[in-house]
Amino acid sequence: MVFTALRGATLVFLAAHVGALQTNVEARDAAPFALQGCYTDTSTSRTLAGASFTSSNMTVDSCIAFCTAGGANFAGVEYSSECYCDYALQVSGTLSSAGNCDMPCSGNATEVCGGANFVDLYWNGVLPVVPQQVGSWEYNGCFSDSVSTRALPHEETIPGGVTVESCTSACKANGFGVAGLEYGLECWCSNSLPTSSSSSDNDCHTACAANTTEFCGGLSKLSVYEDSTDEICLATTMATGFNLAAVYFTPPTTGPTSVPVHVTIVNTVTLVSWSILSTASGVFTSEVLTNGGILPMSTSQPNFRTTSLAVIPGDSPTFVTTEFPPTAVGDYCIMSNPVLGSAGSETLGINGRNDLFALCPNSTAGGRVDVVFNPIPNNPHYTLANCQPVYLILTDV
Ligand SMILES: *[C@@H]1O[C@H](CO)[C@@H](O)[C@H](O)[C@H]1NC(C)=O
Ligand SMILES: *[C@@H]1O[C@H](CO)[C@@H](O)[C@H](O)[C@H]1NC(C)=O
Ligand SMILES: *[C@@H]1O[C@H](CO)[C@@H](O)[C@H](O)[C@H]1NC(C)=O
Ligand SMILES: *[C@@H]1O[C@H](CO)[C@@H](O)[C@H](O)[C@H]1NC(C)=O
Repeated sequence: MVFTALRGATLVFLAAHVGALQTNVEARDAAPFALQGCYTDTSTSRTLAGASFTSSNMTVDSCIAFCTAGGANFAGVEYSSECYCDYALQVSGTLSSAGNCDMPCSGNATEVCGGANFVDLYWNGVLPVVPQQVGSWEYNGCFSDSVSTRALPHEETIPGGVTVESCTSACKANGFGVAGLEYGLECWCSNSLPTSSSSSDNDCHTACAANTTEFCGGLSKLSVYEDSTDEICLATTMATGFNLAAVYFTPPTTGPTSVPVHVTIVNTVTLVSWSILSTASGVFTSEVLTNGGILPMSTSQPNFRTTSLAVIPGDSPTFVTTEFPPTAVGDYCIMSNPVLGSAGSETLGINGRNDLFALCPNSTAGGRVDVVFNPIPNNPHYTLANCQPVYLILTDV
């Protein structure tokens, strides 16, 4: 009877997640919760990882009542006096033989309340879902994350609580095309899909605290969504050296439709140089991209160590050359061609945008034409009206 609620996707989901749940369970009076069997449990990785309590007066019904009050779908009694709840069964638990659950309940010795590291599991037949589509966002999979290397670097704080709906809208509102939910209550955004290892959907098994009918990732696992209407980064690492050319969105009536751009040194003090992207040529002969940072290379100065600095909208992309440069800042990525799509050359993007570059004559540098990201009014170096919108294609070295 409980199982009539399980249909289609839910059933497939259940089969994948719960595996050996018994279908011929003995009905209890505490319907709609039904005994699923005796499952393994450990204190370090709980089979039911939600709310819990212990009581010297534990019964199956008092545990189910406690879990139901918190909205949980699963209730489990263990070690005579322990009660555990969750919205879904965590992957750590597996069905074991009934004989391992052999301890009487502390509040009713005629009932069984699990065993030592074995939990008697009761379930109401309901599971949270993995929404496959939320607006223009599509589910992409479950990926690993770590505190030291965030798979999706930008965290969003959402006052109303993190759900698939609220997280994808927050990421979109901030210009991101990739959203990820973690640990039931975290929301992360990026402009590229994670490069961390992909996990089984089973690992993204924590219900959203703000909507316990859907899943929000897991412990160090991200449920990842991609905005199908947003162009996202193809890669943030490109070990093969490349050069760049600026292609006019609106080509001039005469003259070339594109112009090569280079990393050009504009300022040097003792042992430190700063460079920008410019149409003027310089000492650098190619670039590589590593984890979103650009490393300009020089064949004549192979010992130069140069890295990209954080991009400031309205300024030229800037680089620093020193003996011990900072780690290149991860704002850059490879994107498809904004005009020709996959038929055209790949392009450079900053923060997931490849359509905001311009060539601007720099009035403080004798009219030298420099690349500016997202030009602004009232910049001391250029006049906005003189800037020509371009996109930056990757060219061979
Ligand atoms: C034990 O729980 C039952 C209900 O589950 C209640 O009627 C009884 O008073 C409780 N006994 C103690 C000692 O708390
Ligand atoms: C103890 O559990 C049995 C079996 O579930 C039940 O029939 C009985 O009513 C319970 N006793 C009390 C005092 O709750
Ligand atoms: C909660 O999740 C369910 C399942 O994904 C969804 O249908 C519902 O709209 C969500 N509610 C809110 C308030 O986001
Ligand atoms: C303009 O030129 C100056 C001097 O070379 C340089 O520091 C600055 O970054 C350039 N500004 C822009 C917006 O191109």
